[in-house]
Amino acid sequence: MRSKKTDKEAALAAKRHAARAAIEHIRHDCRLGVGTGSTTNEFIALLPEVRDRITAVASSSQATTNLLNGLGFEVSPLSQCGTLDLYVDGADETDDHRRLIKGGGAALTGEKILVASSRRFVCIVDESKRVKLLGKFPLPVEVIPMARSSVARKLVQLGGQPQYREGVVTDYGNEILDVHNLKILDPEEMETEINQVPGVVTVGLFARHRPEVVIVGTPEGAYSL
Ligand code: A5P
Repeated sequence: MRSKKTDKEAALAAKRHAARAAIEHIRHDCRLGVGTGSTTNEFIALLPEVRDRITAVASSSQATTNLLNGLGFEVSPLSQCGTLDLYVDGADETDDHRRLIKGGGAALTGEKILVASSRRFVCIVDESKRVKLLGKFPLPVEVIPMARSSVARKLVQLGGQPQYREGVVTDYGNEILDVHNLKILDPEEMETEINQVPGVVTVGLFARHRPEVVIVGTPEGAYSL
């Protein structure tokens, strides 16, 4: 049996392999969107190597902006970037069809906006994120604070058990409900249905907004879905 430390090292190696493979997707004159999370942080750490290929950078969250600034990258407002060439981000779950759950880090709104603004979305995960059916990871839903209870009631009607994420305020001043035990049999349909509930800002299902490629890192290398 592996020691705890070795498991941690293996998980980090997997994230790094996925991040390294994503760097290969950055071509010359790239307008790049950057996601949020520990896997994406490994990707950000590699960006100085390809600085000369990047002409503009958009960020999905304040946390990512801080990291990029720390490496000397100026982050441009999305309105000044036009269409992005590439968006790279992690995920909390992916199924075999590249449909995702995202938002574990509460940055789902910025992330979905950048996905929708990019020609190409490359998702980077380690193997622990692969599932047959989405929904074991509680589905994050960003809500306008005054609508928290009414949205929660609707989510119960849909079969879930929403839980308020205590103490979390998103970059846009909103709150997060994490929906447990939801049967997500049709992710595209559910993305649309939850999006339409008044007061919902963003649902963390990225099925209609799915990546073109999911790079799965392993301790030994990486492969693509
Ligand atoms: C941020 O809100 C999320 O969508 C992240 O992309 C997701 O939680 C993956 O994060 P890790 O790479 O830290 O697992």
